[in-house]
Amino acid sequence: MQKKIIFSGMQATGNLHIGNWLGAARNWARLCAEYTCLYCVVDLHSLTVRQDPATLRENARSVLAWYIALGLDPKENTLYFQSHVSAHAELSWILSCYTYMGELNRMTQFKDKSAKNEANINAGLFTYPVLMAADILLFQTDLVPVGDDQRQHLELARDVAQRFNQVYGEIFVVPEGYIPPVGARIMALQSPGKKMSKSDENLYNCIFLSDSPDVIIKKFKRAVTDSDNEIRFSEDKPGISNLLTVYSCVTGRSIDQSVADFAQSGYGDFKLKVGEAVVEALLPYRREYDRLIADTAYLDGVIAEAAGKARHLAAPTMARVRTAVGLP
Ligand code: TRP
Repeated sequence: MQKKIIFSGMQATGNLHIGNWLGAARNWARLCAEYTCLYCVVDLHSLTVRQDPATLRENARSVLAWYIALGLDPKENTLYFQSHVSAHAELSWILSCYTYMGELNRMTQFKDKSAKNEANINAGLFTYPVLMAADILLFQTDLVPVGDDQRQHLELARDVAQRFNQVYGEIFVVPEGYIPPVGARIMALQSPGKKMSKSDENLYNCIFLSDSPDVIIKKFKRAVTDSDNEIRFSEDKPGISNLLTVYSCVTGRSIDQSVADFAQSGYGDFKLKVGEAVVEALLPYRREYDRLIADTAYLDGVIAEAAGKARHLAAPTMARVRTAVGLP
């Protein structure tokens, strides 16, 4: 039987953080045994916000190198840049003719982003979800691992696929969201009610993979706790529970074992130890990242090969779509 297809995209901007690692990449690395996996650095999407060209190029490479360093084997997974496969943009145009203004107007991310960026509410920001639908549908994707913030976009991709299929027959697989069987949700260190996010204005909320050990320790020391000085995992202790989750993820110890490890500790000591555990666990990945990013020839080879693979996988869908809609 053919393997099911998993596709996910990640923005080319900003740095990866430990939430991307512990909550996403680490689980993705296991999926390739069971699924055909494509992970795309969505550099075209990044153009919806004004970018410095050199920085964008560097960040896009950095994201890709980090994913490899974190364990996504480029032989088993197709790790590539969206802009290297022109079918993304082509299919996006076609699908935009099957997407209603009203649907796009309802997208909460568009509303949020335009409110934050009034000086540059461009058409790309508006049609962002159509390009995302094209990303997914291009590969006949079965499953899409995405966070809650992308659910609405995925729903739109499903609606567009179904609409297209109704007119032209079974052209697209209608994708589903994928929630990995194991997966940690890492929360912001100073506001544990929300997810850790690279776009957080408060840098102390987020541990970047590229943060130096000193910075990592400093950020953990400042993590929000509470006033009762008890280290246990519970809903009414979001800060402490989040730190226990991080510790458990990076050490491989269960939550119960982790709680036991700190039976004698106060909060200060606890936060320091969690920080140290993260620094230690990250060390080999950081070394691997440094090695990869310095090995330009190797990385270029991986990037070119993956783009070729992705183009090849996208071609049959594009051919069917062109025929379906009547392009000569
Ligand atoms: N919009 C997604 C995000 O901001 C990134 C993305 C683009 C994506 N295309 C995708 C995610 C396709 C999953 C599938 O996180």
